[in-house]
Amino acid sequence: MTQTITVIRGDGIGPEIMDATLYVLDALDTGLQYEEADAGLVALEKHGELLPAATMDSIRRNRVALKSPLTTPVGEGFSSINVELRKRFDLYANVRPAKSFPNTKSRFPMGVDLITVRENTEGAYIGEGQSLSEDGDTAILMQKVTRRGSERIVRYAFDLARSAGRKKVTVVHKANILKSTSGLFLKVAREVAQRYPDIQCNEMIVDNCCMQLVMKPEQFDIIVTTNLFGDIISDLCAGLVGGLGLAPGANIGTEAAIFEAVHGTAPDIAGKGLANPCALLLGVVQMLEHLGQLDNARRLREAIVATLEAKDSLTPDLGGEGNTMSFAKAIATRL
Ligand code: NAI
Repeated sequence: MTQTITVIRGDGIGPEIMDATLYVLDALDTGLQYEEADAGLVALEKHGELLPAATMDSIRRNRVALKSPLTTPVGEGFSSINVELRKRFDLYANVRPAKSFPNTKSRFPMGVDLITVRENTEGAYIGEGQSLSEDGDTAILMQKVTRRGSERIVRYAFDLARSAGRKKVTVVHKANILKSTSGLFLKVAREVAQRYPDIQCNEMIVDNCCMQLVMKPEQFDIIVTTNLFGDIISDLCAGLVGGLGLAPGANIGTEAAIFEAVHGTAPDIAGKGLANPCALLLGVVQMLEHLGQLDNARRLREAIVATLEAKDSLTPDLGGEGNTMSFAKAIATRL
């Protein structure tokens, strides 16, 4: 049966990196059909809403989407479109691999190979219960962490460790200070860890974790943490392996999965052909693995690595003089 995926071209550099990504995907001969759907600023301009019903229907039907970054308009009355997508499809696991690549500007030439598993539907990042006092002097935000939410994300991390042949899961928290929310997350994580005696487990307070990541990233294998900590840690990890241009992310739920780049719409370089398409292409690697196309996933990853090794047509963020499309073409020739 032919698999159709929903394709969201996004805002800013989104359309450029999606064109480049689909060029490479076509060369891979995956048999995938694309169904385009609008979201974000483009959708607001065309349809008067950030997340049209037709887009939701498309993702619900196809169960797999490839998404370029979307602008979250700053201003009252708008929710974050990315958070909204994660909430509406209950995409509870945000899986962000960070692996060293050759010829990047990373401080760690090789040796980083870790995955951040971030809870995607709860905690401070969701922005629940936000209010500002009438005098504008006091702001309040509610944080909710549940046993169910904690349990399923920690289980996801341990199951991933097993299926991906990983050895260790590090539970990252701030339970010493945030005793209720982070405390519950840690308590549940300890309970879940006991059911996986074959996987090593350790605990780390988030501030120490940030320092350890910068000093000795090779000690990490899989990190599991709550939403906001995961958001920050995964950008830190992207920095360890050469920047946001090389960092993909998968948002996984039971009914749908959305694959994307970790980075945003990069308005400073949009429309200039300077954007690195690799993060979205690495999102495609995750998507192909999710779809069981393991051989195609491996071929695409190897072609990306070979192109980086050859320093062929790299974009300026990687020190090259190529552009978005020339980089993609150089990757496609190596498939
Ligand atoms: P950003 O990730 O768009 O940009 C940060 C820096 O990284 C910029 O200097 C940019 O030029 C560079 N950069 C990002 N992607 C790159 C690429 N592929 N190649 C080369 N350089 C790249 O973060 P920023 O500026 O904080 O956010 C801009 C907008 O993106 C905001 O509206 C934000 O809400 C949105 N955003 C959307 C996300 C999503 O859709 N998943 C994720 C993060 C931000």
